[in-house]
Amino acid sequence: GSVGLKEERVLGVFTCSRSSKVKPTCILTQLVVDESMKPYGKTYIPASYVEYVQSGGSRVMPIRLDFTQDKYETIFKKINGLLLIGGAVDLETSDFAKVAKIFYKLALKANDAGDFFPIWGTCLGMQLLTVLVAEKNLLTATPAENLSLPLDLTQEADTSRMFSEIPHELRCALTKEPLTGNFHHYGLEVKNFNASTKLRNFFSVLSTNVANNGVHFVSTVEGKKYPFYGWRANLNFPHSRHAVQLSSLMAEFFINEGRNSLHQNDVKDEELIYGYTPIYSANFSGYEQAYFF
Ligand SMILES: *[C@@H]1O[C@H](CO)[C@@H](O)[C@H](O)[C@H]1NC(C)=O
Ligand SMILES: *[C@@H]1O[C@H](CO)[C@@H](O)[C@H](O)[C@H]1NC(C)=O
Ligand SMILES: *[C@@H]1O[C@H](CO)[C@@H](O)[C@H](O)[C@H]1NC(C)=O
Repeated sequence: GSVGLKEERVLGVFTCSRSSKVKPTCILTQLVVDESMKPYGKTYIPASYVEYVQSGGSRVMPIRLDFTQDKYETIFKKINGLLLIGGAVDLETSDFAKVAKIFYKLALKANDAGDFFPIWGTCLGMQLLTVLVAEKNLLTATPAENLSLPLDLTQEADTSRMFSEIPHELRCALTKEPLTGNFHHYGLEVKNFNASTKLRNFFSVLSTNVANNGVHFVSTVEGKKYPFYGWRANLNFPHSRHAVQLSSLMAEFFINEGRNSLHQNDVKDEELIYGYTPIYSANFSGYEQAYFF
């Protein structure tokens, strides 16, 4: 049955790894802002992010934005990592930003105490990570609408954790072929990153890109001390062979980081994504399938 399949898939990936008891990865639900999506729910997760986490070998626990601090602390003990997804919400005042901040603080504390808890921010999720670290919003216009780009890797990429397991051929392709899809108006300019002591102390910049207006923006960051990662581009686009390989390796990398986590609290099946069904959403949103909550 489907349960057997699920376990086989999870165990199959985990057998040769450091730990066979991988806890789920949490994905914060995103606030619905588009009128066309409002009839379906208040928050959502595009199915592509769920597939991303599953392709890395973990299970997804969707997290709503209206729980209490206590409840988030309980959840934190059951999960191995946090994925902050894209969207179009305020990075300081939205419920998405507020809940992300709760987890960010818990993650800082856990890592400081010798635990290990990775956070991966994609797209707006990466911007949010930079706002949390800088303690202010340093974003400016860096338009890159529907633009696939190779990454301009920095020297720090050579010694990074994120890119360490990318084979030579793919690494080469990454710098020459348009493997990362960008859909954004705002970003963190390299000069603003450089001007922020907080950001410079916290993150290494692994890649930059040039926006449509000629501005250089930061496209990949990795925490120097903390296992926090930011990826500016979308994860499931484009779909060339190398782009798909890259996306798979990034998913594996992130989920593998979570294996170092000490979180042991048991998770009930009904807390996981399996109890929810994604719906076809291409005719009213920018996503082919999405989960609504
Ligand atoms: C993105 O660009 C491609 C090719 O340039 C085009 O076919 C597609 O319609 C564009 N999509 C959006 C959402 O603008
Ligand atoms: C930002 O800092 C990096 C590393 O110190 C340097 O290579 C780069 O030229 C700087 N860029 C800008 C726009 O200040
Ligand atoms: C979208 O397509 C589905 C499946 O064809 C249909 O049931 C639904 O009513 C459509 N929704 C909108 C908003 O057009």
